[in-house]
Amino acid sequence: MTYAGQFVALCDVSLEISPGERVAVIGRSGAGKSTMLRLFNRLLQPTAGRLELDGQCITHAQGRQLRMVRRRVGMVFQQFNLVSRLSVLDNVLVGTLAQRKGLSIVPTIWRQFSREERDWAMACLREVEIEHLAAKRATELSGGQQQRVAIARLLAQRADVILADEPIASLDPRSAEQVMNILRMINETHGVAVITNLHQVDVATRFAHRIVGLREGRMIMDTTSDRLCDELLEKLYGDQLEEAQHPSGTDARARGVIELQRNMNDARLPQALV
Ligand SMILES: Nc1ncnc2c1ncn2[C@@H]1O[C@H](COP(=O)(O)OP(=O)(O)O)[C@@H](O)[C@H]1O
Ligand SMILES: [Mg+2]
Repeated sequence: MTYAGQFVALCDVSLEISPGERVAVIGRSGAGKSTMLRLFNRLLQPTAGRLELDGQCITHAQGRQLRMVRRRVGMVFQQFNLVSRLSVLDNVLVGTLAQRKGLSIVPTIWRQFSREERDWAMACLREVEIEHLAAKRATELSGGQQQRVAIARLLAQRADVILADEPIASLDPRSAEQVMNILRMINETHGVAVITNLHQVDVATRFAHRIVGLREGRMIMDTTSDRLCDELLEKLYGDQLEEAQHPSGTDARARGVIELQRNMNDARLPQALV
């Protein structure tokens, strides 16, 4: 992937992800993590190389095929990206629109949704444990709750891959833990593959089976979380290793991540949380 005809953001990256996998992508800021995720659902078009979904070439997908890619490969962002003037339920119903053929969202959002669609959207909210917030406006919710709405929206559109770009970077530790647990639960119970960029190594190894490491646009690591050793991490982070493993105390968010780690390490927590 080359930006603006000159800056090479990703080079020689090759990987294949199986249905139902849980993958974390790690690396320093600017390594190309977001670029990689954005290629996977074709928010970006690669300048060279090939992208396949179920063996189908989607490198140059457009129109109907591109809508199919975006429905199946959904994305959650650090900043949630909900429609703030809509209710929680309507935000999730937007996900059901992705299944209608050949309709753009804007003209149809005001039409009456069917009973089935509403029931399905409520079931998706139940899945992420915020059914009781269905009537609230998206902006009335906390960050963690908004992220769960974003996940429910992807369930509503029946995505089979969820891409999550630093989904917990702006959350407090408790909310961060809930969001990672929900992503894990969706992966385990529905077989949805989850590929997530994470800033923090320990959260990544606890969450994912497989860890992919990028450095300066190159994939220098593709391993399982139990094989991730200090030597590999040093190659990946260099002099920023300390920061990736132990975020410094001055930043409240970084402190949050440390607390999250502690909570995740706590043997007294139910198995589902660990
Ligand atoms: N739209 C863009 N135009 C030009 N350069 C970009 C653009 N988006 C990202 N980059 C550059 O590409 C590199 C990788 O960015 P990104 O994928 O966002 O990294 P990460 O998510 O790992 O922090 C960075 O050097 C960044 O400045
Ligand atoms: Mg990024």
